Amino acid sequence: MKLPFELPPDDQISHRLDLCTWQEVEKYLTNCKGIIVPIGSTEQHGPTGAIGTDALTANAVASELSRQTRVLVTPVLPFGMAEHHLAFPGTMSLQPSTLLKVIHDLVISLAGHGFERIFFVNGHGGNIATAKAAFAESYKTAALRNLCVAKKLRCRISNWFLAPSVFKKSRELYGDKEGQHATPSEIALTLHVESGLISKQRPLPEPSPSGPIYGPDDFRLRYPDGRMGSDPFLASAKDGAVLLEKAVFDLTKELSIFLEDS
Ligand code: NI
Repeated sequence: MKLPFELPPDDQISHRLDLCTWQEVEKYLTNCKGIIVPIGSTEQHGPTGAIGTDALTANAVASELSRQTRVLVTPVLPFGMAEHHLAFPGTMSLQPSTLLKVIHDLVISLAGHGFERIFFVNGHGGNIATAKAAFAESYKTAALRNLCVAKKLRCRISNWFLAPSVFKKSRELYGDKEGQHATPSEIALTLHVESGLISKQRPLPEPSPSGPIYGPDDFRLRYPDGRMGSDPFLASAKDGAVLLEKAVFDLTKELSIFLEDS
């Protein structure tokens, strides 16, 4: 498969699906069968983090990845599986069974047009299991419906916050204050892309340590301010820019291998 970033620049083709015409998508498909889908969550991120953190970060990484590689990017799916955050106001969750259907339907829509490689850039750990289940269902549906791409269809979920360079840098910057939820690394990325959020930053008391995740009421009892072992006050917009660059670097390699894999 020819990768878009090996092609000469063509300003007629936007890298954003939402800004393309259908004819541009049809033309894109003659060169590349890959597409990037950012997926986040709308859930509490501690007393200083934005509810949309996971969607903002996934969208930022996916957009920059797309801009640099010219692989088409879809609009972000801002809702994910956040059942355990529902005891905090503002959280909007899709049940696993609903999210599975949403991801399945999006994959099958794209597969029906001839997309063979669907690369999800994920901002929320709670989406991983369900996304993988949705991929399995999608392969089955593609085969049952005899879609042209059925035998070639591949989906992948890439968690930007677990990319090796990001993981290493966040430990370097924040040590064990990175924690598990409302982490300084994800908050840093939101401060980089939405500077208005910097005004919410303030020192916070020691967080509850990271531990298990069960239902929403149990989560709020264990982690009363929403954080799990993290100190988001350590975050800065400057760190966010560095982490974005590292995420895009790692994901570019991962995306290239994924698109070329036969
Ligand atoms: Ni998050």
